[in-house]
Amino acid sequence: MAKIFSGVQPTSIPHLGNYLGAMRNFVTLQDGNECIYCIVDEHAITLPQDPGEIQRNIRNLAALYLAMGIDPKRSILFIQSEVPCHAQLGWIMQCVSYMGELERMTQFKDKSKGKTSVPAGLLTYPPLMAADILLYNTELVPVGADQKQHLELTRNLAERFNNKYGDVFVIPEPYIPPVGARIMSLAEPEKKMSKSDTNRKATIFTLDSEKDIIKKIKGATTDDEAEIRYDREKKPGISNLLDIFSICSGRSVEELVNAYQGKGYGEFKTDVAEAVSGTLRPIRERYNNLIESSELDEVLDEGAERAYDIAQQTLKKAEKALGIGRIS
Ligand code: TYM
Repeated sequence: MAKIFSGVQPTSIPHLGNYLGAMRNFVTLQDGNECIYCIVDEHAITLPQDPGEIQRNIRNLAALYLAMGIDPKRSILFIQSEVPCHAQLGWIMQCVSYMGELERMTQFKDKSKGKTSVPAGLLTYPPLMAADILLYNTELVPVGADQKQHLELTRNLAERFNNKYGDVFVIPEPYIPPVGARIMSLAEPEKKMSKSDTNRKATIFTLDSEKDIIKKIKGATTDDEAEIRYDREKKPGISNLLDIFSICSGRSVEELVNAYQGKGYGEFKTDVAEAVSGTLRPIRERYNNLIESSELDEVLDEGAERAYDIAQQTLKKAEKALGIGRIS
C-alpha cells in the first residue's frame, strides 16, 4: 500500500496524452493504494486565464476524473485552491529553492521564451508543485515524462529541508509508465501533444466526437515509407500511433507490428482511430451524465475536507521545524 498523489491543470479539457500518460494510471493505482488527486487551479493561473473559462474547466475536469474511473469512496478528489495549505507550504518551498535551479527548469524556459514580461509564478511553479506532493506524505507520483524534472526538484527540496530542519517530509518517487509517458502531436510528431497547441489537428481531446477523432487520426503526419515499424527517431508519426494503439487496444507494440506487416497506413490508421474511439466513448458517456449532477459538488466538498485534515498536519510540522508562528 503506497500513498499516491497527482494533479492536472484545468487549463482545457485533458487531451489523449494526459489520459494515456497519467490519468489512466491514476485509476489503476486505486487498487491497493491510498490515492489523492487534485485539480491544480493555482498552477493554472501561472499564465493568464479567462475567469469564466477556468471555472468551466475546473468542473469539466472534476467530471472527467470521475468519468475516467476515479472512485471517490476510495480516493480523495479536490481542488487545490480550496485547501489553503498548498499556497502556504508553497511559500515555504519557495524559500528553500534557489533562483538558479528554478531558472534551469525546462518548462520554465519553454514557457517564458520570447516573453518580455514573465509572471513570477511561472518561475515558482515547481516549489508549489513540491508542496502539493509533500503535504500528503506521498510515496509515488504518477506523471508523464515531462514532469520528471519537477519531481527531481521536489526530491531535492524535500531532502534539503529535512537535512536542515529535521525529518518532516517523505521523499517521493515518480511513477512514469513504460508506454505512453510521452504522447506526441499528431501534426508534428517530434513535439509532445500539448493543450496549448494552436493547430487543432495536433491534439485529441478526451471529449472529442467520434468524427473528430477519426479525422485527426486519419490526418496524422506519418512518413513516405509504407512500413509499420517502431522507430521513434526515423518514424516518429507511426511510432506515436503504435504507442497510442497499444495502450487503447491492450496489445503490445510488438504484436501490433507483426499484425500489420504488409498492410497500408490507411488500414492501420482506421484501426487506431477505432481503438481510440472505443477507449474514449464510455468516458464521454459517463461525463455527460455527471456534468450537471450535484454529486460533483458533494465529492469536491468532501475531498477538500479530507485533504485539509492531512495537509494541515504536515504544514504544522514544517512550520514548527522552521520555528515560524507561535508553536510551542
Ligand atoms: P499537466 O496538467 O500539464 O498534465 C497532466 C499530466 O499529463 C501528463 N502529460 C502527458 N503525458 C504523456 N504525453 C503527453 N503529451 C503529456 N502531456 C502531459 C503530465 O506529465 C501530467 O502528469 N505540473 C503538472 C501538474 C501538477 C502536478 C502536481 C502533478 C501540479 N502539481 C503534483 C503531479 C503532482 C502539470 O502541468 O500537468
